[in-house]
Amino acid sequence: MTKLIDLRSDTVTKPTDAMKEAAIKSELGDDVFGDDPTVNELERYAADLVGMESAIFVSSGTQGNLAAILAHTRTGDEVLLENESHIYHYEVGGMSSIGGVIPRAIPSQKGYIPDLNEYIRGENIHYAPTTLFCIENTHSRNGGYALSVEQVANMSKIAHDNNFKVHMDGARIFNAVVYHNTDVREYTKLVDSMQFCLSKGLSAPVGSMVAGDKEFIDIVRRKRKMLGGGMRQVGIIAGPALVALRDMRDRLKIDHDNASILADGLRKMGVKVFENHTNIVVCDVSSIGLSSSEAIDRLDKFGILIVPFSNILVRFTTHRHISAEDIQTTLDRIEKEWFVS
Ligand SMILES: Cc1ncc(COP(=O)(O)O)c(C=O)c1O
Repeated sequence: MTKLIDLRSDTVTKPTDAMKEAAIKSELGDDVFGDDPTVNELERYAADLVGMESAIFVSSGTQGNLAAILAHTRTGDEVLLENESHIYHYEVGGMSSIGGVIPRAIPSQKGYIPDLNEYIRGENIHYAPTTLFCIENTHSRNGGYALSVEQVANMSKIAHDNNFKVHMDGARIFNAVVYHNTDVREYTKLVDSMQFCLSKGLSAPVGSMVAGDKEFIDIVRRKRKMLGGGMRQVGIIAGPALVALRDMRDRLKIDHDNASILADGLRKMGVKVFENHTNIVVCDVSSIGLSSSEAIDRLDKFGILIVPFSNILVRFTTHRHISAEDIQTTLDRIEKEWFVS
């Protein structure tokens, strides 16, 4: 039987044996009462790791981003964010439907907005007041582009100079940290809050963290409760999440190396590939005369799974279950299947 090569997302990663053991053995308590020692340990560890005062465990990146946005804003506020961001495209419009907050989506260069100043409108009775600016790092729709500390610093300074809070959707922040060979604190010292996922390349089965100062995280805790995210003996998932955060960050480099072999191979075949930094490879298959559904179907038959990003863009994501050999198999198959008329 041919092996399934699932390149749809790093969210398909299964928990490691150590994570399964942690799920069974972690001490449990009722987290709504603050009694779960494993969650408390995870939240302390996460806050220290990212150099922020406090952190909270949430069920998903979407819940974490929404709870953070609700905590930073009031109904009727405007949130500036860039127009390819996950929060804007893929989080069911939660900030508007639940928070009554208006997003203003602005164009960027792969998640970086050098001219953010030009989009700041100042005080005017006609405008919804802008109170928050969101940054995504790494940037999913831009092929896992990893914003540098300098890029984040430039944007944050402009936002802060205008009295906006800054939230980072750092779903894959440790990929950016590995790519730029920096410390995560170099990023977090520039923002007011950060959400980061444990269930992506870090392989935890469930969960994300939101970090910020204590007062802010206390508000996020209330918003999480409102969103139905107050969980009880949650150490059962926080245990594996702690293993993910402690032990799985360094291996992300392997995923990056595999992604860059894939991207180079595609380029050699004449496929137009976005600049790739980390574990995501986005390519434009119209450059070889295909639509994304054609490109996907031709690989799907052979157990190689990828996802569309538009009618002409497809995305490959490498992760712990993808080996260098799988990448070679994928490239061989692409050479055979994408170039037949
Ligand atoms: C950049 C980014 N932010 C947020 C999320 C949301 O995470 P979740 O799927 O855990 O809700 C994702 C998910 O893929 C993502 O890629």
